[in-house]
Amino acid sequence: MYLTLLQLLLIIGDGTIQRPDYDDTSYPEFLNSAWMSCIPDSTPLSEVTIPGTHNTMALFGGAPAECQSWSLASQLHAGVRFLDIRVRHYKGVLTLHHGPVYQRGHFGDVLQGVVDFLHEYPNETVLMRVKEEFSTTDDIYGAVVSYIHRYGCWDMLWHSRLMPTMGQARGKLIVLQDFPGPDLGLCYSSLDIADDWMVPTLLHLPEKWQSVHKHLELAPVGNKSQMFLTFTSGTGVFAFPSPVAQRINAKLYDYLTYKTGKVRLGVITMDFPAAPIIQKIVDFNNQHC
Ligand SMILES: *[C@@H]1O[C@H](CO)[C@@H](O)[C@H](O)[C@H]1NC(C)=O
Ligand SMILES: *[C@@H]1O[C@H](CO)[C@@H](O)[C@H](O)[C@H]1NC(C)=O
Repeated sequence: MYLTLLQLLLIIGDGTIQRPDYDDTSYPEFLNSAWMSCIPDSTPLSEVTIPGTHNTMALFGGAPAECQSWSLASQLHAGVRFLDIRVRHYKGVLTLHHGPVYQRGHFGDVLQGVVDFLHEYPNETVLMRVKEEFSTTDDIYGAVVSYIHRYGCWDMLWHSRLMPTMGQARGKLIVLQDFPGPDLGLCYSSLDIADDWMVPTLLHLPEKWQSVHKHLELAPVGNKSQMFLTFTSGTGVFAFPSPVAQRINAKLYDYLTYKTGKVRLGVITMDFPAAPIIQKIVDFNNQHC
């Protein structure tokens, strides 16, 4: 749990850290833009092991609010394929939020980023949990649909509750719908999810890791038709996302190093992931082309 002297020096250096498991610098160490090309068309998406980010686009607001340091484009090019998008709804306008903190952007910026990426890499797919944050409205569905039309990605959507295969998912945006209304994609609550995000202090990290570990052990033996989703992120009044990620990502990296072979681990969602840990997660698909 203690930082090594080298890590301490890196922190003092310019205030940012780039390790194999944790990265809060501006750009990933390397890119992995097209890894899904190697997954066979017939593989159900629920059997693909996928790296993701928690509270994607939470880049502003200081230590209590920030969950990553890379732009959306950098995240997608680094290999991230699950986005956790939180929108505040006010009279049809959807702004990006982490709790009360406005993230200097709107839902359209995210859709545009995904459209641009999928045009460039049509063999990839992007999973996007969409959740209303810091507002409670009864017409969130209409607002989301209107943005999707406005940003030209209605035809890019996977319009079904059924789990697509990799072949069916290519070039598609798959909404994991975490708000009421008619079906817009997969239903978020149909996933098998571990999201014990509350980490009151750094003394509670062992419990957090236990929750992550337990769910990662379940994923390979769980129902293969159901998507597994494990949040490694956590926060609390005395434990901000970055210090939690610095410790949990290190444990996750060790765990992934000791686990070998082709194993379905599901979606693994992180704060401040680094390019090497993203690569390690992708490698569990054991597909090289
Ligand atoms: C998409 O996959 C096909 C078939 O594997 C491949 O030939 C093509 O180069 C890939 N395209 C991109 C942009 O990666
Ligand atoms: C596995 O998951 C699928 C999709 O959620 C569900 O339809 C099916 O009933 C589940 N099978 C078992 C044995 O629980």
